[in-house]
Amino acid sequence: MVYLHPVLGLVTLGLLFYAASLGIRARGIRARGRARIRERLLARHAVLAPRVLALATATWVAGAVSTAYLRDDLRWAETTHFRLGAALVSVMVASLVTSRRALAGSENAREVHVWLGVAAILIAAAQAFTGLRITP
Ligand code: HEM
Ligand code: HEM
Repeated sequence: MVYLHPVLGLVTLGLLFYAASLGIRARGIRARGRARIRERLLARHAVLAPRVLALATATWVAGAVSTAYLRDDLRWAETTHFRLGAALVSVMVASLVTSRRALAGSENAREVHVWLGVAAILIAAAQAFTGLRITP
């Protein structure tokens, strides 16, 4: 059971990187003739990303429960990994909010959305690193 959360974590991070890559690939497309490819990538990104947010939230809860009940060697809620997890979920919630505003037509929100996404990717990399260090 102690491995449930780390495995869930790996899956979450893998899907997060994939969802991000869809958004970034779409952003790279500027040529008019390829507008449909851009739309398709963004549509897939918009479906996958909120699911990854739900999964990240579940992973966060699973990690906290696992540490509280299964790991006598870790003090609950005192790891850097714990705080980074909270930061990751928060940044993704902000991504969700800004993406809604971007869809409503705000260019500013769209720009902020991309930077929040970049922040999520950096936090996610740190999350894998700190998680592997406390893996049993
Ligand atoms: C809950 C999380 C997320 C949701 C719901 C979401 C949703 C969306 C939506 C609906 C769009 C289209 C906006 C438009 O057409 O105006 C979009 C664009 C984009 N998203 Fe996300 N996204 C999320 C997370 C992320 C993350 C983690 C990244 C990582 C870098 C990211 C990068 C991008 C990029 C690069 C674009 C294209 C922006 C542009 O072309 O200017 N998103 N996202
Ligand atoms: C490569 C991915 C990850 C690995 C290897 C990993 C590993 C771990 C390990 C070993 C623990 C201790 C509990 C246990 O042994 O089951 C833990 C706790 C935790 N993890 Fe992860 N994790 C990963 C990803 C994530 C992600 C994506 C989140 C959040 C979205 C997260 C949030 C947490 C939280 C909140 C705790 C509780 C820590 C505490 O109470 O101090 N982890 N993680």
